[in-house]
Amino acid sequence: MSNELNRFSLEDDCHPHLLQLLRIASPIAVLTGAGVSAESGILTFRDAMTGLWANFDPADLATPEAFAKDPATVSRWYDERRCKIAKCQPNAGHFALAKLQAVTIADRRSFALITQNVDRLHQAAGSKDVVELHGTLWLWRCLDCGIEYEERGAAFSSYPLRCACGGSKRPGVVWFGEDLPKHALLTARRAAGSSALFVSIGTSGAVHPAAGLIDVAIQSGARFLEINPQETPYTSKAHWSLRGKSGEILPQLLELAGAE
Ligand code: OAD
Repeated sequence: MSNELNRFSLEDDCHPHLLQLLRIASPIAVLTGAGVSAESGILTFRDAMTGLWANFDPADLATPEAFAKDPATVSRWYDERRCKIAKCQPNAGHFALAKLQAVTIADRRSFALITQNVDRLHQAAGSKDVVELHGTLWLWRCLDCGIEYEERGAAFSSYPLRCACGGSKRPGVVWFGEDLPKHALLTARRAAGSSALFVSIGTSGAVHPAAGLIDVAIQSGARFLEINPQETPYTSKAHWSLRGKSGEILPQLLELAGAE
C-alpha cells in the first residue's frame, strides 16, 4: 500500500485493510494524549483558547525550577487539577480502548497502551498495564525521603504538602526538563518498535520523547493510524488519518471491525 494519506471519515466505507489489522494485527500499540480525555471534561494543553496552557505559561508551573521557587503555588495548581479530574469519568473512547485491549489479548495477540495523560481514566475504564510516560496526578512523592503517597481525597488544606519525614511532597508528574520514567519509556519504545499497528489518539505530537514513538513505530514497519479532529505534524505520515473525536470514532471503529 502506498504511504499517501488515506483520509476518510467513518461515514465512508472504512478502509478494509485497517479493519482487518484491528482484527488480526499483533502487536498493536496505542499512544494517547490529552484529547482522549477531552470528552470527559478535562482540558487539553494546547487547544487554542480552551487549552490549559492558554491561561498559563508552563514554565511558571510545570518545571522543577517553578516548584523550587514557589512550591505552594505549584502544589495548589496541581491539586486543583487533581480535584477537577476526580469528578471526571472515562468516556466512550476510554472504554473502547479497554475493550480493544481485552479482545486483542483474548485472541492471544499483544497490545500496549501508552499514555501521556496523568488522569488514570484509562485504568478507570478497565485498561490494564497502562504505560504512563508522564506520571500521574494521583501520586505525590517526598523530595527528601522519596516516599510515594497515593492522594485520592479532597483538596489539601495547606501547601506545600509535608511528608511524615518533614520534607515537601511534589506531584508525581513529569515536569518540563525532567527525564521520563526510565522503565516506562523503555517499555513504550519496545512496544512502538515491535508494533504491527500503531495508533496515535488525541495528541498534538508536540512533546518528545513521547511523540517520537510514532517515528519509532513507522521506521520499524508499523502501519500508522491517527485519530484527531485536527491535523498534526504526523498526519502526513499516517496510513489512515481519521478526523474526529476519539469518543465517537473509537466505538464506531471497533463496531466496524467486529470487536464490539
Ligand atoms: P495537547 O493539548 O498538546 O493536544 C491535544 C490533542 O488532542 C490536539 O491535537 C487536539 O486536536 C486533540 N483533541 C482535542 N479534542 C479531542 C477529542 N475529543 N478526541 C481526540 N483528539 C482530540 O495534548 P498532548 O498532545 O497530550 O506533558 O500534550 C502532550 C504533553 O504536553 C502532555 O502530556 C503534557 C503537555 O506538556 C507534560 O506535562 C510533561
